[in-house]
Amino acid sequence: MVARPSVRGQPESLARLIDAARDTSPIAGLTHNFYRYPARFSPKLVRAAIDAFTEPGDLVLDPFVGGGTTLVEAMASGRHAIGTDISSLATFVSEVKTTLYGDEDLARLQRWCECIADGINILEPVANDAHYEEAGYTKHLDSAANWRLKKAIEQVIATARELKPKRLEDFARCVLLRTSQWALNGRKKLPSIDDFRAMLVTDAASMIDGARELRRAALDDRGREASQIICLNRSTKGLESDATFADGRRPRLVVTSPPYPGVHVLYHRWQVDGRKETPAPFWIANRLDGDGAAYYTMGARTKELNSYFANLKASLRSVAALCDRNTMIVQVVAFSQPEWQLSRYLSVADDVGLDECLLPSGTYAPDGRLWRTVPNRRWYADQRGTTNGSQEVVLFHRRRGG
Ligand SMILES: C[S@@+](CC[C@H](N)C(=O)[O-])C[C@H]1O[C@@H](n2cnc3c(N)ncnc32)[C@H](O)[C@@H]1O
Repeated sequence: MVARPSVRGQPESLARLIDAARDTSPIAGLTHNFYRYPARFSPKLVRAAIDAFTEPGDLVLDPFVGGGTTLVEAMASGRHAIGTDISSLATFVSEVKTTLYGDEDLARLQRWCECIADGINILEPVANDAHYEEAGYTKHLDSAANWRLKKAIEQVIATARELKPKRLEDFARCVLLRTSQWALNGRKKLPSIDDFRAMLVTDAASMIDGARELRRAALDDRGREASQIICLNRSTKGLESDATFADGRRPRLVVTSPPYPGVHVLYHRWQVDGRKETPAPFWIANRLDGDGAAYYTMGARTKELNSYFANLKASLRSVAALCDRNTMIVQVVAFSQPEWQLSRYLSVADDVGLDECLLPSGTYAPDGRLWRTVPNRRWYADQRGTTNGSQEVVLFHRRRGG
């Protein structure tokens, strides 16, 4: 049997990484709760990986950036970061979460926050977004149960549109996105308009605090340079040819969680009135939806998952092309059937020239891998397996050769 390389790092930072993986406290702090992006990963784990494998000023890459957890943690710790995602909803959320809002911006958002409750009046008419409506983005929101909330959302969008510059409008839309997700997604009983109004104000206030906290952390004056954060709305496939990397920069750390094999996560829809899917989050964010579910999950849900693994291979090949021997690649992956999917996943990584690194013996799990349990995870595994999707593994790789 070929001996696998070990994860290199200071024992204390590896211990912190293991502790962070085991941590099950709820996601909090900075701008992380601007939106509950499905299958978002733990900021503590990301921060521990950044601390263990990079120095201030290094570049961190997240090729499946989702709601931007990696970008926020990189920014707060003085690293540069590039994130990419095929979903315009993901890049919308990531951009708002990593925008540095100045005092004047926050004061104007505060004033908006004080007026939004009055902007909602179900008896008043409101102009709807005809193009989004015609394109089906408000699907399933006209039912007897939902129309009031839809109208309230339209009225708040109208107030957000008046905010200039655009970063303020985007912040306001993100507040509405968060509150509307709470109000509509997966709910058996919808909140009243009064509750919606109150939650909107609470969310806006806590997001303004979060933006302040991120700015304090990012502008921490320990003499380090300000982070450059880039968010690309594109596929990871072919990323090595993107103009962003034309200067030859290489990430010191890749930290990411790709779509999971056999685990169906609804990244791009909310579920209303039972399980009816609506693309409303794209409407609220003022972004265009890409395609059906398979587009965001790297392939149709077949038993063998052939298109998933083919897409994974193309993406990991591009990630490998962007790395050098010094790049640590950390992936957090869940499986519906780990007994065969883990080995296939690892063989795809091997095929594109990535060597798996195991944790030093005695530090954690008997297989040298870092398994973790995710609290309160709600998703639907397509295939019955030995796991309910709440167990995931943290994998470490380095690029083979020179
Ligand atoms: C598990 S989520 C990432 C969640 C993220 N770690 C967070 O904390 O929010 C996986 C993401 O991969 C994106 N994705 C799927 N196929 C992609 C591709 N080919 N290129 C880039 N992103 C892709 C999906 O849109 C989804 O946002």
